[in-house]
This record gives sequence, C-alpha cells and structure tokens, in this order.
Amino acid sequence: MSSKTVGPAKAVRGTVLVPGDKSISHRAVILAALSNRMCTVENFLDGEDCLCTLDALRSMDVPMVRQGTSLQIQGLGLDGLKAPPKPLWCGNSGTTTRLLMGVLTGQPFEVRLEGDPSLSKRPMDRVIDPLSRMGAFFLDSVTHLPLRMRGTRSVKPLQWKSPVASAQVKSAILLAGLYASGTTSVEEPSASRDHTERMLQASGVAVKREGNKVSIQGTATVRASAFHVPGDFSSAAFLLAAGLLRATPELVVRGVGVNSTRTGFMDLVKAMGGSCRLSKTTESGGEPIADITVKASPMRGIAIGGDMIPRAIDEIPILAVLATQAQGQTVISDAKELRVKESDRLSTLREELTRMGARIMEKPDGVVIEGPTPLKGAVVQSHGDHRLAMSLAIAALVAEGPTTIVDVECVATSFPTFWMLLDAIRSPRRPGANA
Ligand code: S3P
Repeated sequence: MSSKTVGPAKAVRGTVLVPGDKSISHRAVILAALSNRMCTVENFLDGEDCLCTLDALRSMDVPMVRQGTSLQIQGLGLDGLKAPPKPLWCGNSGTTTRLLMGVLTGQPFEVRLEGDPSLSKRPMDRVIDPLSRMGAFFLDSVTHLPLRMRGTRSVKPLQWKSPVASAQVKSAILLAGLYASGTTSVEEPSASRDHTERMLQASGVAVKREGNKVSIQGTATVRASAFHVPGDFSSAAFLLAAGLLRATPELVVRGVGVNSTRTGFMDLVKAMGGSCRLSKTTESGGEPIADITVKASPMRGIAIGGDMIPRAIDEIPILAVLATQAQGQTVISDAKELRVKESDRLSTLREELTRMGARIMEKPDGVVIEGPTPLKGAVVQSHGDHRLAMSLAIAALVAEGPTTIVDVECVATSFPTFWMLLDAIRSPRRPGANA
C-alpha cells in the first residue's frame, strides 16, 4: 500500500490543465462503440475507471486504436457487440458497471461483472430493478457485484420514476432504452448530471426533456462521430480548493467542463464568500467549457442540501475541507447517497478529518462542521477512496506539520496527474508547469 506525505504550503499559484472528464470519457467510448461509424475521442481520461470501460468494450470485440488520450473507435452499431470471453472487470468504477449493465440489457448473451471490494459493496439493485423490467435477466438473486446477467433483443420501453437522483441509474436506463421500441423515460427527484442526454442528442437520438424527466426514442441509430472531452470539473475542484485556501495572487484551471449540473461546488464556494470566476467560456460537443480563476479568500459556513447535493455530489468531501477553515457552522444535509460511494464518505470524512483536528459531527444524512479550526498534520487513511485521498491532501496544505495519506493508489482511478499538479502549484519557481 503506498502513501504520500504532504507538507503545509504558504502559497499556491499558477495556471494548470486537468485531465479529461471521467463521466464524459465513459460515455464517449460507450457511444462510440454503439455508433454506426468510426468515432474519434479526444482528451479521454487515462484513469483506471475509464480504462475499465474501454477494456470491457474491447473484450466485446470493439476495434479501437489508442494513442495516449486520443482514440479511434470503430462503432459496431447497436447490435454488433460480441459475448466477452471472460468476466468484465469493472475495478472501482460504479459508472462502468451501471452504464454497461444498461448496454448489456440489449445484448442476447450472458455476462459476468466483477469489481474490487469497494465496488462489490455498492448497491446494484437500483439498476437491476428497472433493467429487469426492461427484459434483462439476472441469473443470481444478488444486489451487488459479482453478478451475471443476460440481455435480450426484445427490450421493453420503461417509464421510470427513480427514487434517487443518480446519473448512473438514469444513464443505464436510457442506454437500455436505445434498444426498446418506443419511449423510455426517467424522472428524478432532483436533476443529476445530464451528459448522457446531451451526448445522445448530439449523436442523433431523439431526446426530450421536461423538468427532471428525460425521454428517448428507442431503436435509434447512434451517429456518434467525434467527442472532445473537456477538463474534469470534479478534478479541478481539488486544485480550486487549494487556491481558495492559499492562492496568491491567483490560481487558474483552464479548459474545464462547466455544465451547470456539475458546478454546484462553484455556487457554494461563492455563497461561502470565496473568490471564483469564469472566463473564456466556449462550447464543445454541447458541453460548456471555461477557465476558472480562484484567489485565497476568507470564507463563512453555510447550509448545503436539497437540489444542490446532486450538483455537487462528488465535491462534498472537498467542500468539507473548506468548511473546516470557514468562519462558523457548515451543515450538509440530504446527502445520504454519500454513504454508497467509493467509501461511506460521511463516516470516512468524519473519521479522517477528526484525526487532523477538525470539529466534524456525522448525522444520518450529512455532516456538521464547526470552523475555523487549525488543522494538524496526522497519519490518515484514504479508505481506498480517491476523492477522500485528494481532499486530505488539500487539507494537509493548511495543516501544521506533515500529513501522511495512506493507500493513495486509488487517486489514479480519476486523476492520475494529481500529485504532479499539486507539486506544480505549490512550487513558486514552476508556476504554470503544465499549461
Ligand atoms: C457519475 C454519477 C455520480 C457520480 C459519479 C459519476 C456518472 O454517481 O458520483 O462519480 O458518471 O454518471 P451517481 O449516479 O451514483 O450519483
């Protein structure tokens, strides 16, 4: 198990680029594989989660050529996938598992899906239930990986009211819905990230949106030919948080995807008094992209809950770190989904930030943090959770003395260049190391 020691930083600064968006990378290669033509994917995230999706497609006979973060994928059409010779390895990735289960609902062959211990603890019944109604057959009565499923060539359309706001659930159903004749719709309690619907629409699929409900027409041909993946906002959030705590004069992250279903972190930071602004906003493949500039700012505690949670679902751990340095109380509620992420993030955040001296209390659906607290360096655990590991590394920048984060391999699942960029922004002699 490898560990990293991070010392305090007086200042961070510079201009950096983060790798491609994890959610969009998964979707780009899946839609490319189902397309009826050759498709290019640029700025694909070379992280372990997305590589699991790519390997799964390769083992279902999808021809592809990869050169670093550029891919050329020969789409096989909706019905061209072949039965894989061995189980599909989903690693640590809930997105790989759930999105592929949607696609596999339309495949008339049996597949076994496997994952690492963390993924094997995460609930799959949230997709097993709707996909079974659409015609997928699950061979073992399990609600977790490993599982075996067999799809069908006669997928039934479904009108699904999801009890959770989850883009993975929504996407699984919509991908299965491509194979159905008729309309498949998903309605969510709050809006989750909408990359699947944007990318389906850009690929010629009829998509209709009404409030938190999205519908697609099945038996469509997918005409995806090129995707350019923007920088990952969720990865940028760690560096932006470092900047909000320590940037003088400023820190800029360039070319970041700023789809509003993802940028709750930015709205919350502004509500906390943080200086965060967008510039050079453009659009690529239906996704808005911008440069984001932050400065060290005094911040205050706020209440976070409701529809904001899905918009900041992956940024709650790093927001909790910011809250330890903000004036007053931060109350995070309606966030019990965090208990079924790569770790039980409410409990692991409380445990590890407490080791660093934070005043943080766990409640069933969130945490309460009292700030500001001087943090102290400590030995902390990632619990195999990439976002917890990176949040603790940012907390270490404002702690007194060094912090050792144990079990940091997991960072490579979503942000393989994290440690290099963290070094680059804290070294005053190398501002803008990679941009
Ligand atoms: C993702 C959706 C979210 C998010 C995850 C990626 C996606 O999960 O937490 O990191 O790519 O669809 P849920 O759908 O479980 O909320």
